[in-house]
Amino acid sequence: LMAEKGGYKHFMLKEIFEQPRAVQDTITGRLLGEEGDVLLEEMKLSAAELKEVARVCIVACGTSWHSALVGKFMIEEHCRIPVEVDIASEFRYRKPVVDGKTLLLVISQSGETADTLAALREARNLGAKTAAICNVVDSSIAREAHGVLYTHAGPEIGVASTKAFVTQLVALYLFTIKFGRSIGRIDKAKGQSMIDSLVKVPGLLEKSLELNPEVEKVAKRYMNARDFLYLGRGNNYPIALEGALKLKEISYIHAEGYPAGEMKHGPIALIDEEMPVVILVPKNSTYEKVASNMEEVIARGGRVIAICSQDDVEIRAKAEEVLEVPSAGEDLTPILLSVPLQLLAYHVAVLKGTDVDQPRNLAKSVTVE
Ligand code: G6P
Repeated sequence: LMAEKGGYKHFMLKEIFEQPRAVQDTITGRLLGEEGDVLLEEMKLSAAELKEVARVCIVACGTSWHSALVGKFMIEEHCRIPVEVDIASEFRYRKPVVDGKTLLLVISQSGETADTLAALREARNLGAKTAAICNVVDSSIAREAHGVLYTHAGPEIGVASTKAFVTQLVALYLFTIKFGRSIGRIDKAKGQSMIDSLVKVPGLLEKSLELNPEVEKVAKRYMNARDFLYLGRGNNYPIALEGALKLKEISYIHAEGYPAGEMKHGPIALIDEEMPVVILVPKNSTYEKVASNMEEVIARGGRVIAICSQDDVEIRAKAEEVLEVPSAGEDLTPILLSVPLQLLAYHVAVLKGTDVDQPRNLAKSVTVE
């Protein structure tokens, strides 16, 4: 079994460390660098069909729903087409507004989640074009959607999703380039620069993984907390949700993810000297806003674990704990921020002695409603 885990103590840790390779596999063979475009033929969406799309709906469950939320930012920012994101178990019973001008994307690691499959069938019946972002090749969802974009992350064994999540983000980024180029919202030069940023991600992920020993020390200091709050803004808000979910799933500590600007409308009441607050504060367009949210937490005695850009001396001077990730540009930063959050959940769980790869009450793939 140790051999299967490649020398790692758990599949989850192995899969976290596989992320640079997994992302490389998502990208390989798909870039048309000269053209500033990408090749996603299995999606079976021609430029003519993409020009017809008036609206995108992305539907998923769990961690895949978090990647969908990040996808909304990418697609709306670069393609200027409205994107709605929904949880599959909600979508399927909601009489959703979907028609032939809707592109329905479903995201599923396993390709077998019952609610996601039902949502896909419902959307097909309503006449939507459908495409699936899946990891498992030839899964039910991959087969039933009109087109598919495989993440090629390789088998994911740990119940808590890690490499499947980051490769979903990469897949959404590839789709954004394809969509934007097809409808004329992304020109060749911009496509080229988006690709240039993307090809750096595997190397930057390697750098983020070097945080592992530091994250382990942080985990030791906070493992006995009863609750955690995770805050982020914009496209990093879903990463706060995902960080909190990871911690809940495997360490059984209650954790909540929140948009940092919304903290004042509730969660701020929870902050005291006992409360660790993980704050995603990379140098980006909302940096100043998040930094001021961080000050609000510090003013109330909260214990701040800041995840920020490299060499951010201001954050270093103020936060109790600082984990620095390399810069990857605004669209791709969520990928790099995910790494310390995965490692934090992992180390807290190991220290607590839980069954990291097989947490209680959870299944890798939920094939019943
Ligand atoms: C289960 C797993 C999660 C996963 C979710 C959706 O709850 O434990 O890790 O995110 O299902 O799974 P899918 O295979 O559809 O992405």
